[in-house]
Amino acid sequence: METKIFGTDDSLVAEAGRIIARGGLVAFPTETVYGLGGSAFCAESVRKIYAAKGRPSDNPLIVHIADIAELEPLTAEISDSARALINAFMPGPFTIILKKSGKIPNEVTAGMDTVAIRFPENETARRLIKAAGVPVAAPSANISGKPSPTKVQHVIDDMTGRIDAIIDGGDCAVGVESTIVDASREVPVLLRPGGITYEMIREIAPDTVVDPNILQSLKADERPLCPGMKYKHYAPDAEVTVIEGDMGAVKAEIDKRLAENADKICGVLTMSENCYDSAVILHGGITNREYAKNLFACLRKFDELGVQIVYAEFESRDGYGLAIRNRLYKSAAQRVIRV
Ligand code: TXA
Ligand code: MG
Repeated sequence: METKIFGTDDSLVAEAGRIIARGGLVAFPTETVYGLGGSAFCAESVRKIYAAKGRPSDNPLIVHIADIAELEPLTAEISDSARALINAFMPGPFTIILKKSGKIPNEVTAGMDTVAIRFPENETARRLIKAAGVPVAAPSANISGKPSPTKVQHVIDDMTGRIDAIIDGGDCAVGVESTIVDASREVPVLLRPGGITYEMIREIAPDTVVDPNILQSLKADERPLCPGMKYKHYAPDAEVTVIEGDMGAVKAEIDKRLAENADKICGVLTMSENCYDSAVILHGGITNREYAKNLFACLRKFDELGVQIVYAEFESRDGYGLAIRNRLYKSAAQRVIRV
């Protein structure tokens, strides 16, 4: 299949919308990461999304809308706290899980009775969804298991030949996927941390709890609330270890490990001014927000450079830290050293 690369002119976004309306697949920018979109009302489109990503079919997709009025018909029930969260955080880097209505095919939700809905802030994303004329089911536009794409080149690398078109909307502003809150239950549950922090959510829905799986791996027989959590995620080819704590102590620990692994190609992902000898250094950013924005791109870059071992500096500096920890710990398969 030939994959067309589109700019963001109205005529091209309109054509991309027609591709989705006809049952095709288009990757598009959002403020979080690039999405791989198909019509949420077309079971065949949804099957093609799973195939293009190599995604297990028991992992449900997020449905994207371009107007808040589109939300209600997709859902069966909206509690008061759900409504408050919707009013506070949509549009934005936020996904809400609600009981689904009969309009959503089972393929989208992997047979669950709930649906994840997101109203992106990104203008190109909204124009595309409007042009498609249907809600757009879209997972992140990466091959399943790889870091999510935050630059168009990542999408080109993963999806060329697998989908109809890619809209080049530049780099994603947030860089980690949307915050997901399950508001279909008595007590809302934060399933995935992101640009909307737990603190921000608690201001609107104070009883919200955090799914403990955010920072640990599931036990063998455990069923996750968020099916995606059980899969290997964000994993570059390099072996990642997170070194977490005060930046002075972090430097000493990484120096020691670099010396022990002098026969390997090592890389360090920094969030400080620390310098390291004989390692490929990529700077994530000093603030949590910068670090989050650059994290996935840096993980992909280490692979491109043939790095075998990555040490990732980390120190939580604000409420955004939970979103980074969640991605870093997963990409490190829980290899975390606290110093
Ligand atoms: O920022 C984002 O959310 C991006 C952009 C493209 O919108 N999308 C994204 O989709 O990250 P994806 O498929 O990579 O991650 C969606 C997560 C998965 O872990 C999935 O299991 C979970 O949402 N999910 C979807 N529907 C669900 C449901 N009904 N109940 C629980 N978890 C659900
Ligand atoms: Mg994903």
